[in-house]
Amino acid sequence: MNPTTVVDNIGLLVTNDPSAGDGPLGLLRNASVVFEQDRIVAVGPAGQVADQCIDAAGACVIPGFVDSHTHLVFAGDRGDEFAARMAGVPYAAGGIRTSVAATRSAATDELVRLAELRRAEARRAGITSIEIKSGYGLTAYDEARCLQVGEGLTRDTTFLGAHVVPPEFDGRTDDYVHHVCHEMLEAALPHARWIDAFCEVGAFDRDQSQAVLAAGAAAGLGLRLHANQLGHGPGVQLAVAMGCASADHCTYLSDDDIAALAGSDTVATFLPATDFSTRQPYPDARRVLDAGATVALATNCNPGSSYTTSMSFCLALAVRDLQMTMDEALQAATVGGARALRRDDIGRLVPGFRADLMVLDAPSYTHLVYRPGVPLIRTVVEGGVTE
Ligand code: NIG
Repeated sequence: MNPTTVVDNIGLLVTNDPSAGDGPLGLLRNASVVFEQDRIVAVGPAGQVADQCIDAAGACVIPGFVDSHTHLVFAGDRGDEFAARMAGVPYAAGGIRTSVAATRSAATDELVRLAELRRAEARRAGITSIEIKSGYGLTAYDEARCLQVGEGLTRDTTFLGAHVVPPEFDGRTDDYVHHVCHEMLEAALPHARWIDAFCEVGAFDRDQSQAVLAAGAAAGLGLRLHANQLGHGPGVQLAVAMGCASADHCTYLSDDDIAALAGSDTVATFLPATDFSTRQPYPDARRVLDAGATVALATNCNPGSSYTTSMSFCLALAVRDLQMTMDEALQAATVGGARALRRDDIGRLVPGFRADLMVLDAPSYTHLVYRPGVPLIRTVVEGGVTE
């Protein structure tokens, strides 16, 4: 028998299982959660007995956040670019090249050190599952190197060789796409679960993105796509047509895009900290939810368009500016993210699921939005391990 731990005296527990409690969040009051190693073994009234106890002292407990879109592996800093943007310079995909240059010249040990620091920061912010993309290497060697760094931090690594065309391929985008689909994919494959492309003006068009996704699918990778970030375009429709697990950004959506998402298994993943940091308009998530599509929220932590690990900040934006309810935002940041990663073992607090949870310094999850910017995460348990 392994030692068990109880999180006891939970004032308000979000199980995210409507059959386990009240409303869509499956809320329980005066509850406790017992876990053994990395799995939840019991959820019930307060007072369950275990070998060790974490006393929630009447606070709210919620599932750990599932951050389904990040670019954690990079070197360098683009604070000046951000400052210029705030002074009126528009965001452009080309800024990615600045991080590519810094990442290529960084030693692997340094990339590991930086990525570990960001992963630890994300954990303190309540993120217990994370997806990590490459995309700042853009040579076969550097993409494989960045994915290996990501592999040390998560099972959900994504090969993003089609992030932007690197300088050595200037004016030869189709040659670069060929390279991504062959030599680069071959080097990345042992270290990746997913493949992604940036389908956008200034990056890759519909056919180029489709070629990359098709090559990844043929090699056995799951599909995701950066779609409709900087303007209307073919990305969302392509993501749905290719059966992508997720179409990410979705800032500019036509009625047809929304209908396509609603009639598919492709999750619409919103990245509102990006729209904040790039001064883009916010998407209208209300229309997408009302149409019946599955929605996720993610941080998109990266050095250019969204340098934050704060999912709580994303929740606040989602409720304030994307017209989501508090319950919808919390679901999107937990079970929605799990769906975007095709995970059935995370995002809920019920027996059999991973013991990924956080104790808030608050009586309700609503305080994450009601008290923006306040550090309300008291204790994080990830896979049964407490920080
Ligand atoms: O998701 N859109 C493409 N990639 C990142 C931006 C990366 C950068 O600017 O460095 C994003 O926003």
